Amino acid sequence: MNRFTGKTVLVTGAGSGLGRAIALAFAAEGASVVAAGRTAASLDETVGLIEATGGTATAVTADVTDSGQVKNLIRRSVTRFGGLDIAVNNAGILRGTVPVGEVSEEDWEAVLRTNVTGVWLAMKHEIAHMKGNGGGSIVNIASNLGAHLRTPNLAAYITSKAAVSALTRAAALDHIHQGIRINAVSPGASAAPMSLRPGETEADRAERVKTQNPLGRVAEAEEVAAAVLYLASPAAGAVVGTDLVIDSGASA
Ligand SMILES: NC(=O)c1ccc[n+]([C@@H]2O[C@H](COP(=O)([O-])OP(=O)(O)OC[C@H]3O[C@@H](n4cnc5c(N)ncnc54)[C@H](OP(=O)(O)O)[C@@H]3O)[C@@H](O)[C@H]2O)c1
Repeated sequence: MNRFTGKTVLVTGAGSGLGRAIALAFAAEGASVVAAGRTAASLDETVGLIEATGGTATAVTADVTDSGQVKNLIRRSVTRFGGLDIAVNNAGILRGTVPVGEVSEEDWEAVLRTNVTGVWLAMKHEIAHMKGNGGGSIVNIASNLGAHLRTPNLAAYITSKAAVSALTRAAALDHIHQGIRINAVSPGASAAPMSLRPGETEADRAERVKTQNPLGRVAEAEEVAAAVLYLASPAAGAVVGTDLVIDSGASA
């Protein structure tokens, strides 16, 4: 399929894990991809992988917690490819994996700043471009942990991701009249770095997850990417403010 030929797609957190898989999937279907994140080397690697298969991409370093950098990211995306049609706000962090009473103020603020304010800032500047340029589609990456499921010792992360789910719905209502469709994907444990516990190998994770969700395995990064591409595609034209859970049945 070539659903995104002629479209420009911005993916934050595109230097690793789910963000990289999403960037590759869009490029494979014809999109020009802007790969954003804080680390130039990992973004360059993503661009290299896309170019090696004949795709088009560029890397832009930006910290999603900094409004000026995000504004510049949108400006550079538009300058480079002539517009911005689709944005995937995927950058996120997980910290403070202790009971809520023991979470440090530093971890709490970092998680909320990156996962919530970062998504809001990205949408703010993406919408500023899209609303005057024929609309667009935004997909935020939340998590099944948050609005759909809670587990112990992840309060900061759970709070931040519940906020991303709610923010997505609120933003969808506010901007659909400008032709901007906003939705979320909420992955569960996936084949990407964040689901690995400290010191755990992928084989250890596979063994642990066998009993942790009904399907008995993590979602492949490509399976999460497929959901993002669907929401961004014309086939999802009437899908507004949805939070699509891809979690192997964990929150069923
Ligand atoms: N993996 C899972 O099982 C899972 C499950 C549910 C939800 N998710 C969500 O999916 C997203 C991707 O997760 P992942 O597993 O692929 O994790 P990951 O490999 O750690 O990717 C996160 C990406 O975000 C970027 N990032 C972090 N802080 C940033 C900032 N301030 N500004 C710009 N970029 C920033 C990181 O790059 P730099 O450090 O270079 O900036 C990194 O490339 C996250 O939002 C996560 O919460 C993941």
